[in-house]
Amino acid sequence: MMKDLRPDIRSIITDIEKNACAELISHSEPWITLGITYDQTMASINDPLHEVFAAHIHGEIVGVVIIQTEGAFSGYIKSIAVKAGWRHRNIGKSILEYVEKRIFNECSNVFLCVSSFNPGAQQFYKKLGYQVVGVLENYLVTGYDEILMRKTTGPILERKQIT
Ligand SMILES: CC(C)(COP(=O)(O)OP(=O)(O)OC[C@H]1O[C@@H](n2cnc3c(N)ncnc32)[C@H](O)[C@@H]1OP(=O)(O)O)[C@@H](O)C(=O)NCCC(=O)NCCS
Repeated sequence: MMKDLRPDIRSIITDIEKNACAELISHSEPWITLGITYDQTMASINDPLHEVFAAHIHGEIVGVVIIQTEGAFSGYIKSIAVKAGWRHRNIGKSILEYVEKRIFNECSNVFLCVSSFNPGAQQFYKKLGYQVVGVLENYLVTGYDEILMRKTTGPILERKQIT
């Protein structure tokens, strides 16, 4: 099987796509352990403040990312997941690079949280240039911490206008 796959990444539109994305996230760790349900995931997908992109290979949705570009920490990746069975073939990297381009077009930082019990994803983000900001203790549920990470293009007030 090919190691490096190039998925087609685009905004989700249809209810079928929304359903596939909500299932992909809510049926996967870390969301299972965090107790995040299908309905909560669907609410996040439908939140007008969020943008949702799916990665397709041969018509199948194999990955999803939810981002928020407005708010206090603008440029926030809320959830990113690659379908089990499609992992470790650079699909996550392609999705992350795609949304970084989208976010860095408007913001100087990309922020995200990764669960303390998710060392694989921590390695994934470190490899792709993210640094730990700090630990948010008992942030989503009691007993688990979230690690806040950031990738930056530089200070906000020194940002060059992109024309
Ligand atoms: C984390 C996740 C999105 C990564 O996607 P992926 O397609 O498997 O990752 P990629 O193949 O693009 O990996 C890119 C690099 O990150 C590193 N990496 C990825 N997963 C890793 C893991 N579990 N452990 C250590 N390193 C990992 C690898 O070094 C890889 O580089 P390589 O080409 O040298 O192997 C995917 O594993 C996933 O969906 N996990 C479950 C959901 C999750 O934890 N999401 C993050 C929530 S914060």
